[in-house]
Amino acid sequence: MKKELPVIETPKQKTKEKDYSKYFQTTYQPPSLKDAKRRGKEKVQFHKDFSIPDDLNGLGKGKKFMIRTYGCQMNEHDTEVMAGLLVDMGFESTNETEEADIILLNTCAIRENAENKVFGEIGHLKPLKLEKPGLILGVCGCMSQEESVVNKILQKHQHIDLIFGTHNIHRLPHLIKNAIFGKEMVIEVWSKEGDIVENLPRVRKGNIKGWVNIMYGCDKFCTYCIVPYTRGKERSRHPEDIIEEVRHLARNGYKEITLLGQNVNAYGKDLDGMEYGLGNLMDEIRKIDIPRVRFTTSHPRDFDDHLIEVLAKGGNLVEHIHLPVQHGSSDVLKLMARKYTREHYLELVDKIKKQIPNAVFTTDIIVGFPNETEEQFEETLSLVKEVEYDMAFTFIYSPRDGTPAAKMEDNVPMEVKKERLHRLNDVMNEIFLKKNLELKGEIVEVLVEGESRKNPDVLTGHTRTNKVVHFHGAKSLIGELVNVQITDPKTWSMGGELVETAEVSR
Ligand code: 5AD
Ligand code: SF4
Repeated sequence: MKKELPVIETPKQKTKEKDYSKYFQTTYQPPSLKDAKRRGKEKVQFHKDFSIPDDLNGLGKGKKFMIRTYGCQMNEHDTEVMAGLLVDMGFESTNETEEADIILLNTCAIRENAENKVFGEIGHLKPLKLEKPGLILGVCGCMSQEESVVNKILQKHQHIDLIFGTHNIHRLPHLIKNAIFGKEMVIEVWSKEGDIVENLPRVRKGNIKGWVNIMYGCDKFCTYCIVPYTRGKERSRHPEDIIEEVRHLARNGYKEITLLGQNVNAYGKDLDGMEYGLGNLMDEIRKIDIPRVRFTTSHPRDFDDHLIEVLAKGGNLVEHIHLPVQHGSSDVLKLMARKYTREHYLELVDKIKKQIPNAVFTTDIIVGFPNETEEQFEETLSLVKEVEYDMAFTFIYSPRDGTPAAKMEDNVPMEVKKERLHRLNDVMNEIFLKKNLELKGEIVEVLVEGESRKNPDVLTGHTRTNKVVHFHGAKSLIGELVNVQITDPKTWSMGGELVETAEVSR
């Protein structure tokens, strides 16, 4: 199956009027970060009656699919939806690359190394495609929203059959049909977000913990971040749809749910005619009979008092707060357009600690933002010492095409950035270990999730505060909440012993 490839110019040379549509069988919709940046005033429409057209049902009979997921929980969530759509079309899931008739790469664009991994995988899959021309190779997720990525695939990776964007997921059945029956590459990437489509089928990974998406998109436009461009404007699902999904998971025996969104604290701001925020939603969800409820990811700016008040009620609302700070210097935070200062952030942490004394904080931090000085970096070090995070994700700043920060001149050499990351991690690891040592001898509640990857004789799970705990126990405990006494705290995990009946101390 040879594809007719257009002669593509690089994005810089590309003229606005250039129309590639004649080269593609479906309407070729080139992604545009510029269009993706626009925030229209149009109301989001809700579609609740999704179904796969009859002529596409059964298209996958006797065929298998595989989806590789990169990046964040939102991608894991989207993978579950795509798997649901494919299963409803009659496809079967497989973990064996060689067996698959469809392979989808659900990609992440957050940093350059995430993109490099995907391009590596695209290259690895080429021999398989040559051997098996009927194989459909698709690229979706955040990278497909970037025009530079689509152009690169067009120029260098002609063995890809299908590219579709984050707003086009519900169109997957049609796109698969076009890819199977057409001769040319199928590309459909809407730069402007679509409406909210409810009732999409879903194949969830596991039956213990479930993702529940509460909103799509992000309007924060932090200057380093590509997400507002790849995921579109903030759109909240209706509370009744979310609550129904949580109830459904509870009825099906799930023990933990995580409410998902790129900026969950903005939940509800776009819902017409109602004063309803994340606090209201959590207050309703806490009454549902499911043992644990988490949410991610928070933006400190919109973390309001009502939410803190509701979280302080405890119960199934766990005392773990992931609160990305990104940097410890108010000057850098300003350049990042985070819209809070170091002092505001610390005040918020203090306020939460006062109302939820056993709250555990985790965070995301970027080092090496353009022109970060040694003094500014040291402010990050002093902030992490002050907050005493229990865990953190730390990153070297990665310029993302089309974002304001990517246009900033940068005088910090990569060697210095690497050394700063190293120093930050050293400081943080010491704090993580100190915090875990405080738990020695304590009895914690653990949700048993499975066998440890390193040792199948050991069970593994998480505490309410999201710490990993390993212990010996019967396999029948998988999916249960058990009490474990911590005996061997380490930096990133803790060893413990199962205790039969005991008061949980944490
Ligand atoms: N470079 C490095 N890290 C980034 N993040 C987002 N964009 C970038 C970037 N361009 C980090 C932030 C965010 C986390 C998901 O990824 O810390 O919270
Ligand atoms: Fe990116 Fe999060 Fe900022 Fe949104 S709030 S732009 S997702 S870092």
